[in-house]
Amino acid sequence: MKVAVLGYGTVGVGVYEMLVSAKGLECGPVLVRPGKEDKAFKVSSLDAITSDPEVGAVAEVMGGIEPAFSYACQVIKAGKHFVTSNKALVAAKGVELNRLARENKVAFLFSAACGGAVPFLHNLALARESDEILSLGGILNGTTNYMLDAMQRLGLDYGDVLADAQRLGYAEADPTADVSGMDALRKIMLADAVAYGKLPKDGLLNEGIESITAADVAHFQSRGYTCRLLVSGGKNSDGSVCAYVEPVLFRSGAPECSVLENYNMAKYEGKNSGRIVLMGQGAGRYPTASAVLRDLSGILRGERYMFEEDCEEAAANNAEIQHCYYVRLPAAFASSVPSESAETSGEVCRLISKALSVKEMHALAKELREKGAKVFFAAIGE
Ligand SMILES: NC(=O)c1ccc[n+]([C@@H]2O[C@H](COP(=O)([O-])OP(=O)(O)OC[C@H]3O[C@@H](n4cnc5c(N)ncnc54)[C@H](OP(=O)(O)O)[C@@H]3O)[C@@H](O)[C@H]2O)c1
Repeated sequence: MKVAVLGYGTVGVGVYEMLVSAKGLECGPVLVRPGKEDKAFKVSSLDAITSDPEVGAVAEVMGGIEPAFSYACQVIKAGKHFVTSNKALVAAKGVELNRLARENKVAFLFSAACGGAVPFLHNLALARESDEILSLGGILNGTTNYMLDAMQRLGLDYGDVLADAQRLGYAEADPTADVSGMDALRKIMLADAVAYGKLPKDGLLNEGIESITAADVAHFQSRGYTCRLLVSGGKNSDGSVCAYVEPVLFRSGAPECSVLENYNMAKYEGKNSGRIVLMGQGAGRYPTASAVLRDLSGILRGERYMFEEDCEEAAANNAEIQHCYYVRLPAAFASSVPSESAETSGEVCRLISKALSVKEMHALAKELREKGAKVFFAAIGE
């Protein structure tokens, strides 16, 4: 099958190079911006791809929602299978693209959009056929994992580890999507949609790591905890899905503590299978390209969709899951959080809250910040 590639950047170059030697696949044209067609295989018009009868599949690795979405629609309507690594596109337009691909009897696959090389969505799609998936999630942002790991193991402060992550190419010049938890949240939207047929859109909650300090990390460490940015999804008792991101403190020995540097760890719990954990590289040229190639090879074996036919957009409900939280806040605001225990040192209070729903804790932090309080919170993991 001849494969065209949209975008020739970090992932695009990897996909093109891997296609050269892939079994059953061959390189087709690569879409670049006008003026950048410096090789015969590069084209700057999508028509050159959609009108090429030899092209059987298109891999979109440009990023962004537009023009990626318009291009995806044109590719699918031209009868070509569509594979993408673009989580922003699938989170925003996945339900529409699933419907369009099914109408046009072509594949719509996006393994690389969640977990890079880690075959998370692929395994969820298989598991949902034979088991009930009770919960899912994990460490799905390598940049923040690198930063939290470096803060803990090297004792560095937030600003220094962010600068290091940028120097090493793990964090972008504008790191907001990573450090705010937004990037991880988009991934759990896709995982919920694959596992439960509901792509959560409203009611999503994300607390990132921007307010963590070296003093917080030293405090957890002295009590045997490791902090990780965890993304969580799952099905509630009323059939709705939850979807949220927040820092979590794990006791040493928990699998999350062994996820070092920029690695990812995805997990799900099946009613019958129990907990399944997958670890690997969540980003980078070749790890991500390998997931794109996995989808393209899957098409040759008859794989077509990750979302089920009736997958729909839905609101997330984060009011059911409860945790106790570590909360660091100004001592003057300590009485705002119902607590099990509290330690005050000067003007800073560190407390362990009573069990609060995820929705309650995120709302409480928002309210305190609106009053000017500097707050960091992290759920206490199992
Ligand atoms: N990098 C990773 O490790 C990784 C991991 C998982 C998923 N992803 C996803 O994979 C996608 C690509 O990421 P990347 O890191 O490869 O990004 P990148 O290095 O910025 O590459 C994107 C390429 O697409 C080109 N492009 C953008 N719009 C275009 C257009 N309208 N026409 C033609 N070319 C266009 C860009 O060209 P210009 O440079 O001229 O703008 C650039 O060469 C994103 O959705 C990202 O979220 C990346």
